Amino acid sequence: MKINRNYLKLSENYLFSEVAKRTRDFQVAHPDVAIIKLSIGDVSRPLPAVVVKAMKQACTELGHAKTFHGYGPELGYPWLRAAIADFYREQYQVQLDTDEIVISDGAKSDLSNLLDIFDSQASVAMCNPVYPVYLESNLMLGRTPQFLPATVANQFLPLPDETITADIVYLCNPANPMGVCYNRQQLQLWVNFAREHHAVIIYDAAYACFVSGVDLPRSIYEIDGARECAIEVCSFSKMAGFTGVRCGYTIVPKKLLTRDGVSLNQLWRRRQTTKFNGVSYIVQRGAEAVFTVAGLQAVQKNLAYYRRNVRMIFKTLDELQWSYVGGKHSPYVWVRCPGARGAWECFDFLLNEVGIVCTPGIGFGTAGENYIRLTGFNSYANTRLACQRLLKLKQNKKH
Ligand code: MLT
Repeated sequence: MKINRNYLKLSENYLFSEVAKRTRDFQVAHPDVAIIKLSIGDVSRPLPAVVVKAMKQACTELGHAKTFHGYGPELGYPWLRAAIADFYREQYQVQLDTDEIVISDGAKSDLSNLLDIFDSQASVAMCNPVYPVYLESNLMLGRTPQFLPATVANQFLPLPDETITADIVYLCNPANPMGVCYNRQQLQLWVNFAREHHAVIIYDAAYACFVSGVDLPRSIYEIDGARECAIEVCSFSKMAGFTGVRCGYTIVPKKLLTRDGVSLNQLWRRRQTTKFNGVSYIVQRGAEAVFTVAGLQAVQKNLAYYRRNVRMIFKTLDELQWSYVGGKHSPYVWVRCPGARGAWECFDFLLNEVGIVCTPGIGFGTAGENYIRLTGFNSYANTRLACQRLLKLKQNKKH
């Protein structure tokens, strides 16, 4: 048997599977502890009512011969792609053609599947720490990425410099796991760099909905020249509560060409039509409803809910005098481990002392060894309880 031996370079479990496993083991050993999860970025607010209504309606249609749908267009229904294009035009003043947008089952798959359209020898750069999917998808293909350290020294926002030689640069903005956000000038530097070096930016905008403020772009296409060098990957997961429903989209501009004029848009469409049969009609109808007035209002209400949780976490960390970054335009807070602990040590400490599950920073890369990530995605009641428990560490002088 000739297996892909690159898999043997991976850790035994995917980060969030490992966190889940350790949490389960702890729960079995301590059945009385009411664990609170501030770990994986899974939403707690239910789907907007208008989305549920649209999906129910779509389901009903499928049950009648006259309105039944079989295979849909592999790249997504035109009405959903048009709704996304309208949203970009109205919210970001970005003009997209609908055939630049391809609907998928979420950002995670696309961030990895996109590698199919690049040369196996193409070099890759990414932050350290980083969303593990970027790294592990590349390791599976035998690539060794170049890491861009995200540290206190660069405010966790690496910028391009002449040491970077990559053909592909992954950028997540706002960043996962650090929760920090590039501004317009900084993104312009990345776009200029990519154009000068004929590199491609794979821009993960899964958390863009959390960004608000002047000079903080929510799409890479708000930056001059980005259409010539960037692919944007986005998802309905965090924006509209689709973590379990599964829907996302990838934008590959038609202006994105190789030096000899090959269209990456064409390659991606070719890849998807061969390897993917599209997202279900029901789910796409639900996603379309996100862009209605009621849908967008519900989205804002849910985002406000998660932001309030993050503010509560900030207040608690301030009280504990634990240092942290992120969270202002993101659901994630990147916390320096208290007491000079390592990341897994801190994970165990919080689980054992207060029954809180965090994500150990080392799971995102070596630069995360002294950090943990907390999320504002849990319910308000659970987040409040978690904060109260954390404050007890101070009273008990255990922090
Ligand atoms: C995270 O917690 O980093 C993400 O939610 C995981 C994911 O989206 O796959």
